[in-house]
Amino acid sequence: MRHPRIRPLLFLIPVLAAFSPAQGATLAQVKASGVLRLATEGNYPPFNYYKNKTLTGFEVDLGNAIARQLGVKPVWTTVVFESLLLGLDRDRYDLVIASHGITPDRLKAVDFSTPHYCSGGVLVARPGGPRTIADLKGKVVTMGVNTTYLKYVQQLPGIGGVKTFPTTNDQLNAVLNKRADAMVLDRFNAIDASKVLPGKLQIGNIIFPERIGMAVRKNNPDLLNSVNKALATLMADGTYTKLSEQYFGQDVRCP
Ligand code: ARG
Repeated sequence: MRHPRIRPLLFLIPVLAAFSPAQGATLAQVKASGVLRLATEGNYPPFNYYKNKTLTGFEVDLGNAIARQLGVKPVWTTVVFESLLLGLDRDRYDLVIASHGITPDRLKAVDFSTPHYCSGGVLVARPGGPRTIADLKGKVVTMGVNTTYLKYVQQLPGIGGVKTFPTTNDQLNAVLNKRADAMVLDRFNAIDASKVLPGKLQIGNIIFPERIGMAVRKNNPDLLNSVNKALATLMADGTYTKLSEQYFGQDVRCP
C-alpha cells in the first residue's frame, strides 16, 4: 500500500533525476579525490554498528580494506536501511555495504558487486515460538522496511499479520514485548542478538537463503570492476578470512 502523504512527492523524481549526474563518481574521479565515499546502516551488528561511538563491524572493516586496495581514504555515512540505495542515485556516496541481498528487483535500480558473503534469514521468536514457515500460520511476523525478508514473508499464505520497523532493535523489542510472534533476521545477526539476550530468543530455521553484495550506482563499470577486483584480492590474501573469523568464527564467503 502506498502512503497517501508520500504519493505527491513521486512527481518530483524526474526533476531530481535531471539534477543528479548520470553515473556518479567514476573510478578516475574517486582516485583523483583520494576518497571512497561509503554508506552503511550502523545499526546491524556484527556487520555494521557503533561501538562506543565508533562505526565498526565486518562490513565496515571490509569496506575500509577495499578503499585501501583502491589507494584512497574511506569516508563513511550512515543512513537508515530503507533509504540507503536511494542515496546512491543522488550521488551522496559511491558504495553501499549494508547486507543487501542481490535480487532482480534491486538490480533494476543499482549494480551489485560479486557477493561479499552468503547467509540467510532465520526465524527468531520467544522460546517455544515459531521455528518453521509452517509454524507461521496465523502469526504476526516483523521485518525491516525495504528488506528482502519482508517481500518474501508478505507472499506466504496464511500469515496472521506483518509489521515493519526501521531497525533490528525495534523488531526485537516487538518480539520480546509480544507485539509480534516472530521476526526474520539474518542468521549472524540472530546469533549476535541471542548472545546479548541470553535465554530470551529462539533461533529457528533459515527460511530465506541469500547472496549479499555491495551496491554501486548503475552505469559505473570501472568502479564496479575495481571493487570486485579489490574483494577478490582480499579473499585471496587472507584479509577476508581473518575478518570473517574475527566476527563470525567462520568463513562466510559464498561457496
Ligand atoms: N539481507 C536483507 C535484505 O537484503 C536484510 C538486510 C538488512 N540490512 C541492514 N543493514 N539493516 O533486505
